Amino acid sequence: MKNSLSLDRPDDWHVHLRDGPMLKTVLAHTAARFARAIVMPNLVPPVTSAELAGDYRDRILQALPKSSARGAQFEPLMTLFLTDETTPDQITAASATGFVPACKLYPAGATTHSDSGVTAIENIHPALEAMQDQGVVLLLHGEVTDPAVDAFDRETEFIRRVLMPLVEQFPRLRIVLEHITTRDAVEFIRAAPDNVAATITAHHLLLNRNAMFAGGFQPHHYCLPLIKREKHRLAVLDAATSGHPRFFLGTDSAPHTRTAKESSCGCAGIYTAHAGLELYAGAFEQAGALDRLEAFASHFGPDFYGLPRNTDKITLERKPWTVPESIPVNGEELVPLCAGGELAWRLADQ
Ligand code: NCD
Ligand code: ZN
Repeated sequence: MKNSLSLDRPDDWHVHLRDGPMLKTVLAHTAARFARAIVMPNLVPPVTSAELAGDYRDRILQALPKSSARGAQFEPLMTLFLTDETTPDQITAASATGFVPACKLYPAGATTHSDSGVTAIENIHPALEAMQDQGVVLLLHGEVTDPAVDAFDRETEFIRRVLMPLVEQFPRLRIVLEHITTRDAVEFIRAAPDNVAATITAHHLLLNRNAMFAGGFQPHHYCLPLIKREKHRLAVLDAATSGHPRFFLGTDSAPHTRTAKESSCGCAGIYTAHAGLELYAGAFEQAGALDRLEAFASHFGPDFYGLPRNTDKITLERKPWTVPESIPVNGEELVPLCAGGELAWRLADQ
């Protein structure tokens, strides 16, 4: 049995860092593990222009922990939030900054802070043309919002209604279907051309939908896309551990305060950055695939984005530790995944 794991340093290809005091708290967790992270733009108001992305990037750099060596090295990769009004010129301006490798499509109303998202994909065809021409990656929250579609089928319907035609229409556009949760998504990605990839979260590898209802409703297991049936979890786990280069790590760590989660209309989002790599190590180990973790976490993402792989290392040790019940944030609490539970792997001192 392995007791230590040394990997090329990973990147997080999908994370919510928020702003203000929350940013400061969660960024330290992300920067301690990952060299780079694709930072989601769903602030209120959203990050819709190069200028706003630049301002947000500055706030992130300011909030990095000054005391640790990792803080100085972390590189936030910024994204634009696409709206019906996004123009090709806005794409060009964002791409020209050099720090916006991707733009995010949220179907309007699909998830937390997505109200000003895209109402119909045709509305952003000119922006997508510009992204295709300039090599800007399209990130998809892949769920339809049609209220007639069952909440557990929204990803599958998105693939059929939106993504399949999109891949045909924009054959050179690099597309990432984010936080995949279903066997349908896994099959779609495997059959798709090389310009189409997917990210996978740790919580979708570790949990099936029973976790949302175990002994009463569990708001801290509520996220979007919803966690699914066991057969889907197994398919996604198989994809992550298969060594297929178009499945890679994206935590979708999405912090909300305890009061925002434990409410009559609780927010979607699971916080995982406190153990952003350790949780994946647990899932890969359960699947007997620890030897596949490095490529999934550290190689396939940069390869897809056309960025260099990181050259430094990260070390995990098998030293069980208890996840705190909560993390203080500005007088409130953030409840992390596995709060109060034990994780087998921990980050070695750096
Ligand atoms: C995310 C959030 O809280 O911003 N929530 C979530 O459940 N994943 C939004 C998102 O990525 O869907
Ligand atoms: Zn997200």
